[in-house]
Amino acid sequence: MLKDQTFLITGIADENSLAMKTAEKILENNGKVVCAGLGVTPFHKNISEKAQAFLDKNYNDFQTACHKVLGDQVYTAPLDVTLPESLDFLAKDLYQKDIKLNGFLHAIAMDKTIRQKSVKPMLEVTVEEFNETMNVSAFSLISLSQALLSNNVLQNGASIVSLSYIAAEKVSSFPYINISIAKAALERLTMEIAHELGRKYGIRANAIRFSPYMGSKAGNATLNAEDVEKAHQKSPLGNALPEDLAHEIVHLFRKETRITGEIRHVDGGFHIMG
Ligand SMILES: NC(=O)c1ccc[n+]([C@@H]2O[C@H](COP(=O)([O-])OP(=O)(O)OC[C@H]3O[C@@H](n4cnc5c(N)ncnc54)[C@H](O)[C@@H]3O)[C@@H](O)[C@H]2O)c1
Repeated sequence: MLKDQTFLITGIADENSLAMKTAEKILENNGKVVCAGLGVTPFHKNISEKAQAFLDKNYNDFQTACHKVLGDQVYTAPLDVTLPESLDFLAKDLYQKDIKLNGFLHAIAMDKTIRQKSVKPMLEVTVEEFNETMNVSAFSLISLSQALLSNNVLQNGASIVSLSYIAAEKVSSFPYINISIAKAALERLTMEIAHELGRKYGIRANAIRFSPYMGSKAGNATLNAEDVEKAHQKSPLGNALPEDLAHEIVHLFRKETRITGEIRHVDGGFHIMG
């Protein structure tokens, strides 16, 4: 289905990341992947020892998982979406290696107002926390698209997929508040680029709202088992699995689909319930 096509996968922290399942599915469908994971880049200046250790561990886990699951030959590179130079460096490296992309998966989120499964009320969120979450989790869709397009790496007719969830639209029982606002922005940004890039380059862009999933690093740090079980009971088909999500992403990556600007649900039907 994806023969001779290459996709950039962001957001792999380790083997359990949702993005990893998608990367595997792309390979199963005869496509190729290149992976960018959070790590130290030449553009990180004056970072604390603690931050350096965190980024080093993150990159090491990312690389080890990519090589183990996707093969020793898979392209891996560090990326910090908060640094424009890092985005540009990645795009230039892909260009120099003659890697042309047929699309990318945006699977990046971060919210420091969620700590050990408890979350700050909206009225206690600082402007710095709000802006940082917005930048990493939403605006990065634009900055990544800009970097790839300005370096001629993203091909005409490419497909972009971003990951969201139902809390973008409704107040939810999950411990998501500040990040939900960023997800709402991410969805609107997905629609805006579907319009702009669709007209200009025939590029498609869609967002998928996925079920709560505790298997990943982010899911495990934020969700609790009780809420996930409640969602499972409420969903007509039960919570969707990473495999279901990967299947839908591969579908949206296919050249044959004229689908764009959609906010799709891969959530076992949770979204139809009152
Ligand atoms: N787990 C869930 O319940 C769930 C449900 C719906 C949507 N999602 C979304 O799916 C996506 C992937 O999440 P996941 O559950 O696989 O967790 P994950 O922890 O495996 O992935 C989150 C990724 O974001 C990356 N990241 C954070 N800051 C970054 C930065 N500055 N630069 C580059 N990368 C950065 C992390 O390194 C990590 O790889 C996220 O957008 C998340 O909001 C998750």
